[in-house]
Amino acid sequence: MLDARLAELTRCLPDLRLLTAPGDLEHYGRDWTRRWTPAPLAIALPASIAEAQAIVRWANEHRVAIVPSGGRTGLSGGAVAANGELVLSLERMNRVLDFNAIDRTLSVQAGISLQAVHDAARGHGLLYPVDFAARGSCSIGGNIATNAGGIRVIRYGNTREWIAGLKVVAGNGELLELNRALIKNSSGYDFRQLMIGSEGTLGIVVEATLKLTDPPPPSQVMLLALPDMDALMHVFALFRARLALQAFEFFTDHALKHVLAHGAQRAIDGDYPYYVVTEFDATDERVQEVALAAFEHALEQGWVSDGVIAQSEAQATALWRLRDGITESLAPRRPYKNDVSVRISAVPSFLHEMRALLMREYPHIEVVWFGHIGDGNLHINVLRPDGLAEEDFITQCEHVTKLLAATLQRHGGSISAEHGIGLVKRAYLESTRSAAEIALMHGVRKVFDPNGILNPGKLFVSD
Ligand code: FAD
Ligand code: MLT
Ligand code: ZN
Repeated sequence: MLDARLAELTRCLPDLRLLTAPGDLEHYGRDWTRRWTPAPLAIALPASIAEAQAIVRWANEHRVAIVPSGGRTGLSGGAVAANGELVLSLERMNRVLDFNAIDRTLSVQAGISLQAVHDAARGHGLLYPVDFAARGSCSIGGNIATNAGGIRVIRYGNTREWIAGLKVVAGNGELLELNRALIKNSSGYDFRQLMIGSEGTLGIVVEATLKLTDPPPPSQVMLLALPDMDALMHVFALFRARLALQAFEFFTDHALKHVLAHGAQRAIDGDYPYYVVTEFDATDERVQEVALAAFEHALEQGWVSDGVIAQSEAQATALWRLRDGITESLAPRRPYKNDVSVRISAVPSFLHEMRALLMREYPHIEVVWFGHIGDGNLHINVLRPDGLAEEDFITQCEHVTKLLAATLQRHGGSISAEHGIGLVKRAYLESTRSAAEIALMHGVRKVFDPNGILNPGKLFVSD
């Protein structure tokens, strides 16, 4: 028998697609963390803004919590529904609505995948530059809600830079049209920016107008093997000074082991502790000479041990797979993830402290690092050893995260660089934000969502 609240919802919205089968509840109730047991009330799949608004009004009336849901590729539990919430999936609102050649903008519904946005932009000879490995399944709405970063931040910045306007259903059901794609709009508070990174706690993004840019110039991709951790930032400084970087990503030998076991091709013989994949503009043939000269210099300095430069698109793709494929290769192990950042200038000293901490606290546990080192963003993935119970493993990781948060605080860093706080990191928010800021965040939430129905339990320890 249908829950009385759901019966009322279907009475108000007879055409609403509503799922309640156990398989659907499980599928839509979790994200890539897979740490919590999904237990949503139901899944609503609105097909229009009007339906989304009506759902939010119904939720206010019946005090039902809503979990806004995109592609559920999130890595911090933001889209998890484990407490009888209604999952509001944007999956059916996935169309391109408009392309404006003069404004160079693309208007889309929030459920569209990042890949589909890339394809649409390319179809108009332009680029939407935010990019990362989940592109095929994550949604623009989710990207906006987490202010997603990815592998091109060093050149193009985060999602925040690419949002010209938003349509958002606020927590009271009101539709807000934010910034209307204006370049200049100095007329008070910019709620568009407030929505970006708000993790579904202030409003439901239903449409977005995205800025597009020129396609990137021709580029070259290089893989470098490094002898030690200190070399990382030396090589970064050298390459950034001599080349126009599009990406500068690193990973360790542990990450390499997993990605190779998952089907990627080895590109450098021998074993080295650190690797870098870098991509840079190659507008003419002199660039290759500059890159090789930089490589030679790094070799003389003892900062690199080996390297390879892709000679074809297929080779470039194969080199990128060594970095892009890491998350998927680790996924079966359900790693405990930290996603931290410091200013670029603080990376060397932070890395030293962090490595000492991890070696001390995880003596018999495999820890895999990789990330967007050129942005000061590091991903730490801790793998549960066979024989260690999940609960004990998480307890140990939480203890280390507390210490890591204190280290980050000393270095002026962030406990969440790009994945969001969600459920995973809410206990550590205060290592990155002051008590005064957190109090204001609560206040802002109350204004946009007076009854606290949007994603309660996420971002904050208590609502
Ligand atoms: P979901 O997981 O569905 O939701 C994420 C959060 O957004 C939740 O709090 C949810 O409630 C909220 N939300 C979703 N849609 C809406 C909406 N329409 N309105 C309001 N709130 C909404 N992230 C990076 O930043 N950089 C990376 O390089 C990166 N690489 C990844 C690689 C892989 C293989 C995977 C699996 C994930 C990666 N991620 C990365 C994490 C993830 O893909 C991003 O956080 C992404 O932005 C989430 O989008 P989604 O649609 O899957 O969101
Ligand atoms: C990445 O950079 O690959 C992503 O942020 C995913 C991850 O951290 O696992
Ligand atoms: Zn990342």
